Order: sequence, then structure tokens, then C-alpha cells
Amino acid sequence: MTARARYLVTGGAGFIGSNLVAALVATGERVRVLDNLSTGFWENLDGIREQSLIERITGDIRDREAVAKAAAGVEVIFHEGALGSVPKSVERPAESDSANVQGTVMVLDVARHQGVKRVLFAASSSAYGETEELPKRETMPANALSPYAVSKLAGEMYMRVFARLYGLETLCLRYFNVFGPAQTPDGAYAAAIPRFVDRAISGRPIGSMGTESRRGISAS
Ligand SMILES: NC(=O)c1ccc[n+]([C@@H]2O[C@H](COP(=O)([O-])OP(=O)(O)OC[C@H]3O[C@@H](n4cnc5c(N)ncnc54)[C@H](O)[C@@H]3O)[C@@H](O)[C@H]2O)c1
Repeated sequence: MTARARYLVTGGAGFIGSNLVAALVATGERVRVLDNLSTGFWENLDGIREQSLIERITGDIRDREAVAKAAAGVEVIFHEGALGSVPKSVERPAESDSANVQGTVMVLDVARHQGVKRVLFAASSSAYGETEELPKRETMPANALSPYAVSKLAGEMYMRVFARLYGLETLCLRYFNVFGPAQTPDGAYAAAIPRFVDRAISGRPIGSMGTESRRGISAS
């Protein structure tokens, strides 16, 4: 068991982040979590047995002071914090840009100043847009079709630029439609798979995807 946190998970109170925190502390690692609770819940971390290994910080990834406090002494940042909904980004593109692009630049900038070794970025399959050919391949060209997809692609480019300019190790993982525990099936912005499962379990018709899908902008 280590005495100081080696890992910071931004967005660690969210669906993917909280599962990541659980996986890290299960290996005996101390983990710091920064989240502004805009779509996440601290309750997502409550079921983890090793509570003493989790340091929770409520704060925003656009706030330099909050990020600096969260990143102090850490070696690796898993940057999961973002506004993840494609439809929300279509309704409010400036909010998506602010959290996902400015937030990412702030995380990277603090990381380079504080000597963080590596930043792993939650990139997105939305980068590919609609493709005739399936399954999608990493070598396919980018074709962002929503403000969310643009913000995630911008994040990838910032990762590359910070690696090149400042020697930070960065890695982008383009998640597809992730599903699992701590994901909410409710509400207008629920992801497709939990929504389908929820409807199937309760005997309702699964229905069709919304206009976002037909316009090719539903990938998260
Ligand atoms: N779920 C998927 O299928 C999927 C697919 C591709 C990419 N991603 C990416 O993976 C990451 C995690 O997604 P998720 O599905 O767990 O979503 P989520 O909404 O459950 O988690 C995101 C977390 O980030 C936090 N957050 C948002 N804005 C913040 C800010 N400004 N400052 C601090 N915290 C902030 C939220 O409160 C939330 O806890 C996101 O970056 C998302 O874009 C998810």
C-alpha cells in the first residue's frame, strides 16, 4: 500500500471514472478524485471497500487551483471528466467546449507544471462519425458530427501537442459505447445500451434511436 496518491482520476464520481477508481484501489493504490458533480455522484464510490485509499476533491477541471491541488504529487492522471452527452452538446455547444476543451487544457497545463508523468485521455468513438464500413478502425479519418465530437478530437490534439512540446506522456483511448455498473438508464440523456436494457427488462418496446442517430451524431 502506498502512502501518497499516485493516481488522479478526473470525473471519478461518474460512471467510467468510479469504476476506474474501484479498479485502482483494488490493487492497493491510493487514488485522488476530482469531480464537480455536474453529472457524477460521490455515492458511486460509496460501495468501494477500501475507502481510506480514496481522496475526494469537489472542484472543476477548469479551475487551476482545484486541479493543482488534485494533481499535487501524482504520477498519472486518468482524465475522464467531461460533459459526455452528444445531445446536450448539440443544445449547448459552448458548455461542451468549456468543460471538454478548456478543462482538458487546464489538466494538461497543470500536469506539465507539476511534473506529472503521464495523462490518459478518455477520447471518443464519435471521432469517426458515421461510416459505411463496420467495424470502425483506428486508421479511419476523423469526421466529427457534433460539438461533443469536436471537443473530444480537440482534446486528442492537445494531448499530442503537450507530448511534443513539453515531453508529457499522453495516451488517448477512444471509448465506444461503454456500459456497466453505475451508469444511469434514466433521463433524456441516457446512453443507448442502458436505455435499451432498461426498456427490455420492463417489457417496453426498445424503440428507435432519436434524430441524433439518424443524423449520425449519437456515438458517445
Ligand atoms: N460512456 C461512454 O460510452 C463514453 C464513450 C466515449 C467517451 N467517453 C468519455 O469518458 C469519460 C467518462 O464518461 P462517463 O460515461 O463516465 O460520463 P459521466 O457523466 O458519468 O462522467 C463524467 C464525470 O465528469 C464530471 N465532470 C464533468 N464536467 C466536469 C468539470 N468541468 N470539472 C470536474 N468534473 C467534471 C461529472 O460530474 C462526471 O462525474 C468522458 O470524458 C466521456 O466523454 C464515454
